[in-house]
Amino acid sequence: MQLGWLRAASQPEEVLSFYRSAPDPFLLPRPERDFRLAVERGQHFIVGRGPRIEAAAGVFDYGHDLPFVELSETRVSDPLRGFGLQRLFLLVRVASVVAFQGPGVLCTCAVDPGNTRSLANVESVGFRPWNAPPPEALASCPECPRRPVSGHRRCCCDFYALPVEQARGAVGAFLAQTAGGVLTLSARLKGTLKLDCSSCLVATDSEVRSALGEFASGSSW
Ligand SMILES: CC(C)(COP(=O)(O)OP(=O)(O)OC[C@H]1O[C@@H](n2cnc3c(N)ncnc32)[C@H](O)[C@@H]1OP(=O)(O)O)[C@@H](O)C(=O)NCCC(=O)NCCS
Repeated sequence: MQLGWLRAASQPEEVLSFYRSAPDPFLLPRPERDFRLAVERGQHFIVGRGPRIEAAAGVFDYGHDLPFVELSETRVSDPLRGFGLQRLFLLVRVASVVAFQGPGVLCTCAVDPGNTRSLANVESVGFRPWNAPPPEALASCPECPRRPVSGHRRCCCDFYALPVEQARGAVGAFLAQTAGGVLTLSARLKGTLKLDCSSCLVATDSEVRSALGEFASGSSW
């Protein structure tokens, strides 16, 4: 059995150096200030073993004060792939958006149509195609090195959004998974991974959990 932890990153540098250590073609470039803001807000989540970060994912703005955010920049290092960390990162970020930004803020994401693993995970959490993303969601496309050069696509990715009923389900699943303060995940060929989430506020704070529970059961919002 492997032991690890889940928490929000506290230092932008730890997150930035994790991404710099292994750039991935499915992760689109993003200004450093976006990562710093996600970390400052306590919304860049990391999984690690011992002192080492092994996976990360953040919540980003498309612009100032908009009613939707982008769940993005998920990277899981090879040794921890297959444990379902991408799904866990989706759940913890949805819970943090509901708890700290409010259930009226729509969780969205953008996925390259060739990234079939990500698509399966995003759809399994309940994300649905966001067919008419607003201009703010496409604002970085002109500078993107992967911008489509021809055809009708404006962005190399397809956009998805999480309807409120599916957000309730995602938050309920997150609460159930983190109920004991330790999460147990398994991968077909790699055994089990136990993640201590006692330093992850959204998973452990009793007031936050109680507000999330009301949202998940439909008694609030
Ligand atoms: C896409 C990504 C985040 C998925 O992370 P994950 O937490 O391993 O996802 P899952 O646990 O759901 O695994 C998905 C599948 O990939 C398989 N897999 C991929 N790489 C693997 C590896 N190196 N070792 C074992 N399994 C691997 C898993 O077995 C699983 O297959 P299964 O459903 O048949 O069991 C991860 O592969 C990654 O970081 N990719 C590069 C960056 C990226 O694409 N980010 C997302 C942008 S939208």
